[in-house]
Amino acid sequence: MSWKDYPKAELHLHLEGGAPPAFIRGLASEKHVDISKIFTEQGTYAYHGFDHFLEVYEAACTVLQGPEDFHRLTLAVLEESAANGVVYSETFLSPDFCGGGDLAAWRDYLAAIESAADEAEAKFGITLRGIVTCIRHFGPDKAKAPAICAAETKGRFITGFGMAGAEMVGRPGDYSWAFDAAREAGLGITCHAGEWGGPDMIADTLRDLRPSRIGHGVSAIRDLALVDQLAEDGVTLEVCPGSNVFLGAAGIKVGDWHAHPIEKLRAREVKVTISTDDPPFFGTTMTKEFEMLEKTFGWNEDDFAELNRNALDAAFCDAATKEAVA
Ligand code: ADE
Ligand code: ZN
Repeated sequence: MSWKDYPKAELHLHLEGGAPPAFIRGLASEKHVDISKIFTEQGTYAYHGFDHFLEVYEAACTVLQGPEDFHRLTLAVLEESAANGVVYSETFLSPDFCGGGDLAAWRDYLAAIESAADEAEAKFGITLRGIVTCIRHFGPDKAKAPAICAAETKGRFITGFGMAGAEMVGRPGDYSWAFDAAREAGLGITCHAGEWGGPDMIADTLRDLRPSRIGHGVSAIRDLALVDQLAEDGVTLEVCPGSNVFLGAAGIKVGDWHAHPIEKLRAREVKVTISTDDPPFFGTTMTKEFEMLEKTFGWNEDDFAELNRNALDAAFCDAATKEAVA
């Protein structure tokens, strides 16, 4: 069956990483910035491997220069998500890629993103919530300001705090100041771990940053005691199978969907959910994720309904929003 119109909830989408290449090229030409080398001749993003992906990602972000650009970006990303049946989405917002280090500027950016989200809700029927996110490879000191930003903007729209970026930089505990501040402010907590790092990185993240969700978490499969702990503690994994298979994360052979551990994690009762991460970078959409999961593991409507329930249970929005989108 076609999964395009099947209603979906997505917890792990980087707003800048959702930027269609044509949108970024359009902004680059408006602003007379030459970033032609980050595109292939066919017009897709050009990179080799995860570290280079992060560089190309940051280069693409250089053309997002003001709140109005983020307003347009949000509309473009949500139109595409809604066209793939997404009715509820949580997106990572990285202040380091918008407005530099200035809290007053961030407020303007976040307000522009929120107003675009409201517009998209009315136009396309998709609800968006934001997770302010620090970037791990910028170091622990640079993580503090996004946490303060998250705490100060917490509300209907900003509901969580997280960390993305190069996972092998530092240890989770180095970032505990930022996560403690965000948790004390009442924000939902998530953190990328177990995409490139091993089970020890997931275990340390759980111990030191105390998230209710882990971004990716797929390397847990190498330590079954940890898998059982995730299941027992009800930690939800934001699994991004297409991203993992495209990049070869957690030791998965590039292109090999059958090597992805999501089915094994689920069989041991870990709460898993499905997301796209950075869809145009990995040639994916939520529709394609569902199609590949059906094709690879034989998942059907009952399976997808369970994954949607897991996502809404673990979502950081309030109960009324959950009810409205369920
Ligand atoms: N930022 C954008 N996509 C990411 C990913 N897959 N892992 C870590 N940081 C990211
Ligand atoms: Zn991610």
